[in-house]
Amino acid sequence: MSTLVDRAPPAEQFAKYPASWYLFSAGADLARGPVSKPMLGRRLVAFRTQSGRAVVMDGNCAHLGADLGCGKVVGESIQCPFHGWRYGPDGLCNHAPVVAFTPPTSSTAPPFARLQTYPVVERHGYVFFFNGREPLFPLPFFWGEDPERFVAGKVFQYTADCNWYMSSSHAFDMQHFASVHDRELIEPARIDCPAPFARRNSYHARVVGQHLLDRLLHRFAGKTVRITLSICGGTFALVTANFGGAHSRFLVSQQPLENGQTLCEGICFAPRSGVALLDRFNLFMRRVFTHGYLEAEARDIRGTQYRPQNLTAHDREMIEFFQWAAALPQSAASTFTTHNKLESTGHEKMDHGLSSPPRTSRPSSGRAVAGHRDGGPSAQ
Ligand code: FES
Ligand SMILES: [Fe+2]
Repeated sequence: MSTLVDRAPPAEQFAKYPASWYLFSAGADLARGPVSKPMLGRRLVAFRTQSGRAVVMDGNCAHLGADLGCGKVVGESIQCPFHGWRYGPDGLCNHAPVVAFTPPTSSTAPPFARLQTYPVVERHGYVFFFNGREPLFPLPFFWGEDPERFVAGKVFQYTADCNWYMSSSHAFDMQHFASVHDRELIEPARIDCPAPFARRNSYHARVVGQHLLDRLLHRFAGKTVRITLSICGGTFALVTANFGGAHSRFLVSQQPLENGQTLCEGICFAPRSGVALLDRFNLFMRRVFTHGYLEAEARDIRGTQYRPQNLTAHDREMIEFFQWAAALPQSAASTFTTHNKLESTGHEKMDHGLSSPPRTSRPSSGRAVAGHRDGGPSAQ
């Protein structure tokens, strides 16, 4: 066993809920009031204030823990359904009514009456939040592209039967491109870190599958494909696939679940055509193919586990991904409750070691050289 393989980190070194961007919901879902759901080991609530601002915060009231998703929006605040405490977009309780038979009544909130809030970005009709006090990196989009030039489709979901870092490691699993996706590398893949907290694999491959989708690709898109797979913050994936005759782009927000599985929520993108009907049809077709492709893969390879001791020298790119992923910051819960401690250790400032110069990797068939930038099929 090589030294490299020996360096695959133990499972305990990975964050349970990495500090990353996550999809909460469609913005339209907040139109009828607050929405709460269990996410990332706690309950979160999202609501839209009267002025239109989307807010994501911890979803259990600081008083006795009532679910704020059952509350209501009052002006710029959310009101607890139990005793009526209200929290503003900063998470501070700004109203704590007291009913008493003997005056004076007071509405001063106790010092503990505050909830953690999360940075929010609304884009393409979706509410994304960062799992931490401050975003460590901007909400990712396809490198060099302007989000305004694209339209987004409806979200699709599937569940990966493995943890988040196993799910994300597929982007660097050079062996499975051939065995699962029928993609034969034409030249060496290139792995780089295009931004802090981002790791990318770019490769050029021949489409060699004989199933229906690949036959359609051969006929209408092309026989080769340039692919980029970027993992940001460990859980947020961006995929591009350039077939020559067709270009596909989608993101997958991966949410670690309590049971060790990973909820994957995907959104396809298409260049804005200016014709709404055409955009809708285009996005519908992309969604059908991309969802089908990813869901089938998740179904076919269920039960996979992280076994660092069983990785071989042929898994080098994956091992390096695991090393990178294990160094990512811990969850917001950790950074919130032990903020001072983390600051003193510098653990939150993880720029170091999380970016690296471009390097090359070999195709499955041999040793190799060079690298590429764009590419990628609507699935690896
Ligand atoms: S539980 Fe929310 S105000 Fe009492
Ligand atoms: Fe894959």
